[in-house]
Amino acid sequence: MADKKRVFSGIQPTGGFTLGNYLGAVRNWGVLQDEYKCLYCVVDLHSLTVRNDPEVLKKQIREAYAMLLASGVDPQRSIVFVQSHVAQHAELSWLLSCYTQFGELSRMTQFKDKSQKHPENINAGLFTYPVLMAADILLYDADLVPIGADQKQHLELTRDIAIRFNGVYGDTFVIPEGYFPKVAARVMSLQQPSDKMSKSDPNENARIMMKDSSEAIVKKFKRAVTDSDSRIVFSDDKPGISNLISIYSAVTGKTTVEVEAEFDGKGYGAFKTAVGEAVADILAPIRTEYDRLLADTAYLDKCMADGAAQAAEIAAGTLLRVQKKLGIR
Ligand code: TRP
Repeated sequence: MADKKRVFSGIQPTGGFTLGNYLGAVRNWGVLQDEYKCLYCVVDLHSLTVRNDPEVLKKQIREAYAMLLASGVDPQRSIVFVQSHVAQHAELSWLLSCYTQFGELSRMTQFKDKSQKHPENINAGLFTYPVLMAADILLYDADLVPIGADQKQHLELTRDIAIRFNGVYGDTFVIPEGYFPKVAARVMSLQQPSDKMSKSDPNENARIMMKDSSEAIVKKFKRAVTDSDSRIVFSDDKPGISNLISIYSAVTGKTTVEVEAEFDGKGYGAFKTAVGEAVADILAPIRTEYDRLLADTAYLDKCMADGAAQAAEIAAGTLLRVQKKLGIR
């Protein structure tokens, strides 16, 4: 572990991963392993703020873990684990919650959005969700936290909590910073390109799941909403086409300008097919590896157990440090 900077990130297991999760996050997680000591976590405790079927959740946790490995996260180089396997997350979360203000949590936009959307289940876990996220990050002395824009506010709160705690008890936590990759693809809905592509979108055609078959992927891209004229140019007033251009550019490595030139005068039909095929081509080998891993129960179990053991060793050290400062050990 020596002097490499530490990276921590987490992803919820529920609902599977979309193309947006892959291009915007998970693909970069693999790349970061060359330069940093990385910890990647399937945050199943965070998924409990909504009701889940236990059997389905159990399956989704394994699927998410397998999909991370299939996408290039290497359990030999990184610590890859499931949050609930490391008890210290919940424990530190309680301690940190006593250093987090009601007012701060009330201002979290994700909490406000989610409680508005689900007024029937505004549970305390939904409210303290960002504290658990702070515990995830602070347990491992993470320097860098790759996150999407929607998690910026939570990371800011994590920093505030850590700074506050350090202010009272002396140096205890590393103050983490956000990590926003240079080529972060922000993948939008294929049906409503003003919205982010979401795994919970009721319209299946709006999202590409990493598990989708190549045929389904191509079909969904053919159905993608475009704009009124037929020019393939990247511009604010053409959100549909611009989204397809950024997806194509993210999977081929070509710049927006190169993509525009490649499809100049070609029409939407040909372009949509090309994007669909390019996406299908990069996801196909990942899906094959994912299927192979899921079938190898013993290997997955071993990776999960090893990951949890390595994580717990670090987490236990941090937790003890905190407990001592607080006078409870
Ligand atoms: N809240 C994050 C999300 O929904 C997931 C998450 C949980 C996370 N703990 C984290 C991300 C720690 C980064 C670091 O996307």
